[in-house]
Amino acid sequence: MSILVTGGAGFIGSNFVLDWLADRDERVINVDKLTYAGNLENLAALDGDGRHVFVHGDIGDTALISRLLTEHQPWAVVNFAAESHVDRSIQGPDDFIQTNIVGTFRLLEAVRAYWSGLPKQERETFRFLHISTDEVYGSLAADAPAFREDTRYEPNSPYSASKAASDHLVRAYRQTYGVPVLTTNCSNNYGPFQFPEKLIPLVIHNALAGKALPVYGDGLQIRDWLYVKDHCSAIRRVLEAGAVGETYNVGGRSEQTNLDVVSTVCELLDELSPRRDGESYASLITYVADRPGHDRRYAIDAGKIERELGWQPQETFASGIRQTVQWYLAHREWVANVTSGAYRDWIVRQYAS
Ligand code: NAD
Ligand code: DAU
Repeated sequence: MSILVTGGAGFIGSNFVLDWLADRDERVINVDKLTYAGNLENLAALDGDGRHVFVHGDIGDTALISRLLTEHQPWAVVNFAAESHVDRSIQGPDDFIQTNIVGTFRLLEAVRAYWSGLPKQERETFRFLHISTDEVYGSLAADAPAFREDTRYEPNSPYSASKAASDHLVRAYRQTYGVPVLTTNCSNNYGPFQFPEKLIPLVIHNALAGKALPVYGDGLQIRDWLYVKDHCSAIRRVLEAGAVGETYNVGGRSEQTNLDVVSTVCELLDELSPRRDGESYASLITYVADRPGHDRRYAIDAGKIERELGWQPQETFASGIRQTVQWYLAHREWVANVTSGAYRDWIVRQYAS
């Protein structure tokens, strides 16, 4: 038995691969292009483990994906591969269109050809699970109900528009060709191995370096936060029991303003790694120019996956963020290794103003 995972060297993908192999004796074929966001160090715990087969490649390379599908005969494909950072999509949308839209299309083409050639019983048990985001639904007013699976798509950034396009392609491959697809739309993840361009690891990294903690606009934008291991358990549950053709919203019922998130991280750092001068890390909070088209609020109604598949997150925001800060404090070498020259160039470009 094997599954094929794309983008499994990134933040969520690597957590998923590690968790999958922790309790299953199934081979994982992990195809990743190793962009700036992909890091094989995340998977170091699997060195020498024959159940993990890493392949350096692009989801847009149909010939490669077709060869891997034929060779390994996976019963599922889980598509994490994407360009994932909103600010990068604003500075340069091209890669987002190429990977998130064209790449997903080419991957679907390879999967369609493979699935069509399977014997009947295997065609029925095969699954293509597409990992998407709550950002496809756009921005909520303060008093609006949380996103449901039938909320209208209204993406506002090149990133979310490209993810929305990929979701539509996935749906179309079910409706038109019968490919057994599933889609999850998840809220903001945090936890181990998240690249320090995203809010929480960026704040931890900057705080420990005594640098400004950049808060966009008034800092009162709201996100729903989910510990990454809980997202991974939701994905496993959807693979096991999700109804083909359905989409599932995944979230932590944990809405927080960005300012609250940053303040919580500062309080934890004050406790776990206090500054020598006795000041709080919160004194480093700095308001900077807002993100263009910045979505004000996301909130997820996870009622469907809770009711129909019995999924529940294990961590609260308080327990998950504590573990996350502890993880970053214990893995400073990981952070040092990913904050390369290219990382520093990005930070200078992004926060220049
Ligand atoms: P990430 O940026 O950390 O990782 C993406 C991975 O995909 C990297 O390893 C990268 O090398 C790889 N990749 C990029 N282009 C590729 C290509 N053309 N072919 C093969 N591999 C390629 O992203 P993440 O935060 O782990 O997100 C994973 C998925 O989950 C994405 O699809 C994202 O849209 C979705 N998602 C993320 C969040 C979040 O909060 N991070 C929330 C909901 C959904
Ligand atoms: O909602 C799910 C999405 O969450 C995923 O689809 C994306 O892949 C993932 O990157 C994330 O998108 P966000 O834009 O919400 O995450 P980010 O960490 O970039 O920002 C979180 C919030 O913090 C957002 O309102 C912008 C703000 N922010 C971010 C950075 C990097 C700041 O105020 N300052 C910053 O320096």
